[in-house]
Amino acid sequence: MSQTKFHQTLNAPALESLGPVTAEEACLLEKLDLTRLPRHVAVIMDGNGRWAQKRHLPRIAGHRQGTQSARTTIETCARLKIEALTLYAFSVENWRRPKTEIDFLMQLLREYLKREMPLLQKNEIRMRFLGRIHELPAAVQKDVREAMEKTAENKGMVLCVALNYGGRAEIVDAMNAVLQQQNGSAAPSLITEEHLARHLYTEGLPDPDLLIRTSGEMRVSNFLLWQIAYAEIFVTETLWPDFNRARLLDALVEFQKRERRYGGIREGQPSSDEKPARVAGE
Ligand code: FPP
Repeated sequence: MSQTKFHQTLNAPALESLGPVTAEEACLLEKLDLTRLPRHVAVIMDGNGRWAQKRHLPRIAGHRQGTQSARTTIETCARLKIEALTLYAFSVENWRRPKTEIDFLMQLLREYLKREMPLLQKNEIRMRFLGRIHELPAAVQKDVREAMEKTAENKGMVLCVALNYGGRAEIVDAMNAVLQQQNGSAAPSLITEEHLARHLYTEGLPDPDLLIRTSGEMRVSNFLLWQIAYAEIFVTETLWPDFNRARLLDALVEFQKRERRYGGIREGQPSSDEKPARVAGE
């Protein structure tokens, strides 16, 4: 039995939970070691506007179609037992878009939360929202709060939706939270990475080990700046509304080909007698 087949036998329940798969998906699943999946996948869902433009449709049609890709990605990651999935739905910069598009995106999210609640519950998904939620329209804040409350007891994957999110804003917010805590303390201490991480919106979650960006742009766009320090980045030309289960499996297969060294050296590589070079911060 090949190594891959062995792993798949061990994880048969996870595979069965995916339901019927296409020939292409089956071929990709054969290559996947289900015991070495990323713990946290983060996605920059880009290309909705271009998808619509190519079809002479309004941009909002691309966003609507994008919710289908979100559904497939969420369900597949949950069933593969990935611990956390973060989707970049609305950035602090997105307020620069026309008001009609912003209103549509907010409405789409509200509809999505209502419509998909049974699917989220069935898959035991726990929802979190990352960003300056208090700045969102009141109705959105209410729906966001309710989605978190309704799914709070679920024990499966954590689904984070980054909403009114900015990576720099998150670090500033965390820094202010640390300072506020220290203000009340008689003996303030130096701020460490651990202090800061404890006040990030992602507190308690593992850092993303795989960052997927659709539509071919080679940017991180102010997304999870702190947390993606060691993430493997997978950029695909596929536009977000075309990102289906096979394209997600492509990303997972590619992730498993990467050698993750975290600034160290390859495992098993003989170390030299020379003194190691200085590393940043040393
Ligand atoms: C980027 O495409 C996409 C967005 C800013 C919005 C993403 C939102 C969704 C897919 C809606 C639903 C989300 C959830 C979590 C239910 P773009 O408009 O920048 O595309 P372009 O670069 O081609 O113009």
